[in-house]
Amino acid sequence: MSLIESTVHDGLVFPPPADLAARAEVSGMDAYQALIAEAARDYEGFWARLARETVTWRKPFSTTLDETNAPFYKWFEDGELNASYNCLDRHVEAGNGERIAVIFEADDGTVTHVTYRDLLQRVCRLANALRRRGLKKGDRVVIYMPMSIEGIVAMQACARIGATHSVVFGGFSSKSLNERMVDVGATALITCDEQMRGGKALPLKSIADEALAAGGCAAVSSVIVYRRTGGEVQWNPKRDMWLHEITECEADICEPEWVGAEHPLFILYTSGSTGTPKGVQHSTGGFLLWAAQTMKWTFDWKPSDVFWCTADIGWITGHSYIAYGPTAIGATQVVFEGVPTYPNAGRFWNMIARHKVTTFYTAPTAIRSLIKVSDADPSVHPKSFDLSTLRIIGTVGEPINPAAWMWYHEHVGGGRCPVIDTWWQTETGGHMITPLPGVTSLVPGSCTLPLPGILAVVVDETGHDVPNGQGGILVIKRPWPSMIRTVWGDPARFKKGYFPDDLGGKLYLAGDGAIRDKETGYFTITGRIDDVLNVSGHRLGTMEIESALVANAMVAEAAVVGRSDETTGEVVVAFVVLKGPRPEGAAAEKIANELRAWVGKEIGPIAKPKEIRFGENLPKTRSGKIMRRLLRSLAAGEEITQDVSTLENPAILGQLR
Ligand code: WTA
Repeated sequence: MSLIESTVHDGLVFPPPADLAARAEVSGMDAYQALIAEAARDYEGFWARLARETVTWRKPFSTTLDETNAPFYKWFEDGELNASYNCLDRHVEAGNGERIAVIFEADDGTVTHVTYRDLLQRVCRLANALRRRGLKKGDRVVIYMPMSIEGIVAMQACARIGATHSVVFGGFSSKSLNERMVDVGATALITCDEQMRGGKALPLKSIADEALAAGGCAAVSSVIVYRRTGGEVQWNPKRDMWLHEITECEADICEPEWVGAEHPLFILYTSGSTGTPKGVQHSTGGFLLWAAQTMKWTFDWKPSDVFWCTADIGWITGHSYIAYGPTAIGATQVVFEGVPTYPNAGRFWNMIARHKVTTFYTAPTAIRSLIKVSDADPSVHPKSFDLSTLRIIGTVGEPINPAAWMWYHEHVGGGRCPVIDTWWQTETGGHMITPLPGVTSLVPGSCTLPLPGILAVVVDETGHDVPNGQGGILVIKRPWPSMIRTVWGDPARFKKGYFPDDLGGKLYLAGDGAIRDKETGYFTITGRIDDVLNVSGHRLGTMEIESALVANAMVAEAAVVGRSDETTGEVVVAFVVLKGPRPEGAAAEKIANELRAWVGKEIGPIAKPKEIRFGENLPKTRSGKIMRRLLRSLAAGEEITQDVSTLENPAILGQLR
């Protein structure tokens, strides 16, 4: 039975609300099909039209797509623009300077409103200060900041002078920050004294100091510090400067640096299945186009909307749907410093009610954890809040299970708001497969159909299409403007990882499995096909965690796998062989805690294994290869049904069970 049939049977198909559909940017299935047909008729013409309508160009482009050096595609290459101009100046010039750009809510509930005019001035001042310190087009600036107005200002200021930013999530350790600063060749760092989350202060500046001292960062000559809490910090007067001091004396205007469309706007590190994190390099023109276009299509943005994306600017979602997408179209958005559970688990709903949020975008993990608490405590249940301003609610980052989808739809969306389950990745720059609120009939658990211009298909291991109803590998058939351009400093890894020869070298390999419904063609993502875990919507490479574990003096060997989890999607389970004897009981618990803390230090708290099991060895084939599928079964507590005849040391399974 097809997906739509089976869900129709269960009564689980949700057509778009008629009033919303009537007023929507893309209104009805025919309008969607017309866009699909336009792209099919003239692929380049379709993208060129959107790029002309959505982006303001300083110098118009004359070529749309250059495929000569595929897969190093170029889009709109001879066009010139500035991202910050598009996100700020053009709204002020159009008479919308007094429109609220950001409603910032701090951890403690303090609210600050920033207009587009204010935001432009703040960006110009910082951009001038950066220029004064010698920073210029092509330089790399690392941003290690909490959720803040200043974080967005820092990103936009880099874009304004043509410097390429690389934001490092505030939850990463000094070691991770150091590695990224070294790899990207940073010459400046923008950070903060302390970050406030859930009533607790976390010392970002001191982590940054450690990262700078760890070696390889001699080129970082300016460390700009935003004073958030006024907490005590170490100070190196040769290098460190307060953001408020260096911007005080600067002018409110700053001529943007006009860059070519392919100029790298940012590099964002993400985990892959092998080796160290890779720096995903994005362009200026293509990225900006898609961030803005998907705001209009996927979120059906209207000037009266109040948009709220709960992601962190340290992840791609915070780049596309906080720093650039909403500002590019002149939206009003909520930016939140804190966590959903502080001061209590009603925080999100309380904020939606107070700020009259119309469009809410969050992660399935957040929804699942809030379901749990609000079941136990009605005072934090969404039904205790006035959420009537909401019209569209979305999710991102991981599959949403139908039960969580239904709860979100009913209790947050009041049964009237479309749930927009957006599938995309750091590498894709913006949404790829997603329902459109005025078009798509929704089926819980399915991200439904590709956006116009996105040629998503499911193939087998040799790159051939598989029929609907049969699972396979998710690939994108044609380049699109906001796609990853390269892996910073490692073009070979880009080519090999994303356009593998096994698939013919022309298909973009997403790294996810998918299945399409027989009747509707709706996509359901079946999870990663590589060794990448997804914990609370955060991407983690098993290899990275293994390298962190074996870097500990006690550890001889380690293997890391994921286990599915009701709340966080997956959790990290580590199998560890110590150099000394295999610990048991309280000793094992103590070492496990030490190793967890170690991983927190090496990578960041998000990578800490939930569970660590010790063995005298790991299950290996005779050729010495670790049998991960066995470890996955062990972690899940499943009976081993796989063939273990090739196993060198079957007795080890008992120890690890
Ligand atoms: C997963 C986040 C199912 C997927 C924007 C992908 C999803 C990875 C969905 C990218 C979804 C993201 N349904 N799975 N709607 N959205 N994923 O780079 O495995 O942090 O490859 O980008 O998250 O994670 P990333």
